[in-house]
Amino acid sequence: MTGEINEIGLVPANWTRRHLLGLEDLSAEEITLILDKAAVFKRAMAKDRSRLPLLNGKTCVTLFFENSTRTRTSFSLAARRLGADTVDFSASTSSVAKGETFIDTAKNIEAMGIDAVIVRHHTPGAPQLLADNLRCGVVNAGDGAHEHPTQGLLDILTIRERKGSLEGLTVAMVGDIFHSRTARSNIWGLKKLGAHVIVCGPSTLVSPRWAELGVEYSYSLDAILPRVDVLNLLRIQFERQYTRPFPSVREYAHLYAMDGARLAKTKPDILILAPGPINRGVEVTPDVADGTQSAILEQVTNGVAVRMAVLWLLLGAREMMNDE
Ligand code: NCD
Repeated sequence: MTGEINEIGLVPANWTRRHLLGLEDLSAEEITLILDKAAVFKRAMAKDRSRLPLLNGKTCVTLFFENSTRTRTSFSLAARRLGADTVDFSASTSSVAKGETFIDTAKNIEAMGIDAVIVRHHTPGAPQLLADNLRCGVVNAGDGAHEHPTQGLLDILTIRERKGSLEGLTVAMVGDIFHSRTARSNIWGLKKLGAHVIVCGPSTLVSPRWAELGVEYSYSLDAILPRVDVLNLLRIQFERQYTRPFPSVREYAHLYAMDGARLAKTKPDILILAPGPINRGVEVTPDVADGTQSAILEQVTNGVAVRMAVLWLLLGAREMMNDE
């Protein structure tokens, strides 16, 4: 463990960010720095899960206005494993229900002495609004269909671990592209690291305009399968849809569910990912979700390491700049 703490060192002087709002404005170097540090944290945690004394005395609050299982627990564990304290805030039982505004709520929480707010909100841009109004660090844990940067990072870390590098890989995301913040964060991150990205799903959930982001689009999973190295299976986000985008879930599954028969037509070393929660039988069948090509639970493990790296970069002890 001491070896890993030495390897982590101090936050490099060229890391100047106080917030993580998305992957769109991160450089390939910044993304690689987060992944490299996450890999070290993962190694340290695999050996010994006692707290690393890197964020002692810091406090993080998770401010979640949407449901979450993985993300909130993962951020809390990441903060605690670095020695920070965490407090969970639940919108449904708070003064938000009494009419307090989002910014007032956040400012009141910050006034109690908080170093970072980890926010999930149904409105795109909510984390940016907090970053503009609070003095503490802000981490986006998912804002509407906009971005979910730590999900993108943990997906990319899982691919890098299994495939060695992102350069030249073909990564397809299948499903509800239109409503997916995971898709958007993955697109920015994957492209910066040299992967070719395909978005695939029914035409009601995948528009040709996605090509403007520099990705290929397809309506046929069967057509793209043979050339795909990584398949990221996205959930149909019924909670964000005003009208049904296809006639029935059965019809969707017939065309887009990743099952054993489709797996037989892929490259033998294809990697199957899903951000979770998975709907078994809709975007993926149990034999594939639990099979040897799947890294779905590895993604969850990597999520803690990535969030440790992010919190440490935002709150950890820094190298001095030359003129400091
Ligand atoms: C994703 C989310 O909330 O955006 N899940 C997650 O964070 N693990 C994707 C989803 O809900 O389908």
